[in-house]
Amino acid sequence: MSMRRKVALAASAAFIATLATATAQDPTSLKDAYKGAFVVGAAINNAQITGQDSRGDAIISEQFDSISPENVLKWERVHPEPGTYAFDLPDKYVAFGEKHHMFIVGHCLVWHSQVPGWVFRDDKGNFVDRDTLLKRMHDHIQTVVGRYKGRIQSWDVVNEALNEDGTLRQSPWLKIIGEDYIEKAFQYAHEADPQAQLTYNDYSLENETKRKGALALITKLKAEGIPVTSVGLQGHLGLQWPSVETEDVTISDFAKLGVKVVVSELDIDVLPPATQQQTADVSLKVEQNAKLNPYAGGLPQSVQQELAKRYADLFGVFLKHRDVVTRVTLWGVTDADSWRNDWPVKGRTSYPLLFDRNGQPKPAFHEVVRIGKSTEAR
Ligand code: G3I
Repeated sequence: MSMRRKVALAASAAFIATLATATAQDPTSLKDAYKGAFVVGAAINNAQITGQDSRGDAIISEQFDSISPENVLKWERVHPEPGTYAFDLPDKYVAFGEKHHMFIVGHCLVWHSQVPGWVFRDDKGNFVDRDTLLKRMHDHIQTVVGRYKGRIQSWDVVNEALNEDGTLRQSPWLKIIGEDYIEKAFQYAHEADPQAQLTYNDYSLENETKRKGALALITKLKAEGIPVTSVGLQGHLGLQWPSVETEDVTISDFAKLGVKVVVSELDIDVLPPATQQQTADVSLKVEQNAKLNPYAGGLPQSVQQELAKRYADLFGVFLKHRDVVTRVTLWGVTDADSWRNDWPVKGRTSYPLLFDRNGQPKPAFHEVVRIGKSTEAR
């Protein structure tokens, strides 16, 4: 057994003891604090799916009543070669959710990122034609959604189709198929599992220009009778952006269209912005620089408290919209798991979630529970 693994196991035993103490002090879990309002989820990684991260698994089963797959159901993972599907990890992911009676999310079917090059090209390396790509999309969706029919309750069908100015992203899907690739993706997903909730999922929809594009898109899909049931506000947010008023307006704007809203990938960045854009574009890369990584030795109490207040304010908005918000999912379990440690700058020490690097509940966790419990009494 490697040293790293031994340390992880020892930490894990210590953690389970501390979790017992923490819950004895405050017996309420996230899922219980929001029972009757919405489910609270976490995106889970390979180590958590396979049981290698027992500390993470204890937090997930104790605290959350929904899971999302951080990576295992992306096209490049589940369907790396033509005709070859890798269902081992996705099967374990779904079994994990079923074991704990969770609301299980599928992420994601049609995205411009993490799609193998072969999907768009023929044997000679040229782009395929519209019909060929539609057939590939159909087969992929039919196979993946069909396999988990009735077991995965909600799918992110189309992910990040919009540019920041609200126009459609010039992805290979758009270039080869045309604008109706979005309609087709929803139709194919509905055909494969008519009961599943189907989501359009994107980041920075709080920004008005991009939001207008998304509102227009959803309006068009609904007018055409396309079975879109919800909009996913990814929720890769900062301490200042967006204001709670803007988050409130954003949820209301989508609610008016008759769709549900899910907060699908929530985390809150406390680090200095590495770019001026409010983006979660995975292709963005920025050089390492000590000024961009100020809390490598620990998070100052003042920032810890600011983060806690920010989480409380946002959950207050989600609760206000409990009639339309059906799920709030954190994008990771502990700070150690977060993609934000490596994006857009590699190797930073980030603090975006509710549990710290040792798996301990942070002040933000207690604030989120407090807000949820205070609503029970209303
Ligand atoms: O698993 C391999 C490992 O074997 C290899 O040694 C290592 C080398 O870089 O890479 C590991 O894979 C990485 C994987 O995360 C797991 O850590 C990939 O390179 C990396 O690209 C991948 O990043 C994921 C990213 O999406 C791209 O798919 C993040 O984990 C994931 O959190 C992030 O999630 C996205 C949502 O799907 C869509 N919305 C934005 C969100 C955040 O970027």
